[in-house]
Amino acid sequence: MKTATYFDLEQTQVCIPNPSKLLEFDPIKFADSFDRKPFLITHWLSEHPLFDLDRLLKLAQSLPENHIEYNAGNLPVNQDLKLTPRNGLSAEETIRRIRDCKSWMVLKWVETDPAYRALLDQCMSEIRPHSEPIRPGMKQAQGFIFITSPNSVTPYHIDHEHNFLLQIRGNKKIRLFDGRDESILSHQELEHFYGARSRNLVLKPENAERCWKYELEPGLGLHFPVTYPHWVENCNDVSISFSITFRTPDLERRRAVYIFNHHLRKWGVSPTPYGGRPSRDDWKYVAYRAANKVRGLFRRGDA
Ligand SMILES: [Fe+2]
Repeated sequence: MKTATYFDLEQTQVCIPNPSKLLEFDPIKFADSFDRKPFLITHWLSEHPLFDLDRLLKLAQSLPENHIEYNAGNLPVNQDLKLTPRNGLSAEETIRRIRDCKSWMVLKWVETDPAYRALLDQCMSEIRPHSEPIRPGMKQAQGFIFITSPNSVTPYHIDHEHNFLLQIRGNKKIRLFDGRDESILSHQELEHFYGARSRNLVLKPENAERCWKYELEPGLGLHFPVTYPHWVENCNDVSISFSITFRTPDLERRRAVYIFNHHLRKWGVSPTPYGGRPSRDDWKYVAYRAANKVRGLFRRGDA
């Protein structure tokens, strides 16, 4: 098992700003690590006006209510998602008072605003030539902006997309765990994540230090492989981060098999884990898609 590593700041200081690009990364490191290991990149978005607090306030005012999630930010690493405390403020007040209101906020699917869509598309156009040979079929590019108070914590959790987290303002410390290690993340936890749509997990004390450790500062970004558990802690300033994500068809198949296994387990069957027998995964995927199609027909009243 790896030991904890802090990134070497010097390795990120060789990049010279290139006005035609938003992102910079080592193609060899990308090819070696994408969707398997975290790696740092650099970006040129820290001074971008789309991330000024006034502009973000305007964005929040324009987004539908279900595109904004926010709560208290002084949380433990292990937090039951359903019991996450509110901060007692409106979304707008939360942004206006973000320095002092001890809160955590995410603006979701910001690509519904054309200006953010253009920025996200440019980032994806720089990533796509490198991700396609490894995970072909980039789709559903989505952007999320995290606006968080000093010292706030994002509890231990997993996410289901390919993700690059670009740090725009403030510093944050990230603990990222190897999602391939079943002593860290079990098949049952993944089944529950996909089947019950519950992103927060419990970090076992014996695993607390079995992680990669990074401190992101403005201009740095970090690649999170899909469903690698992590938790995040802000330093002493307001933090703004831009998460650029996308999906690929292989993730749909993986998700379908985990959901299928989640239902099998609920019915008292102990399923073959995802990846254990590829032929079984194939028929589970086919069965899941067929069941979804039938459900869709009934919902539309066509059947
Ligand atoms: Fe996350």
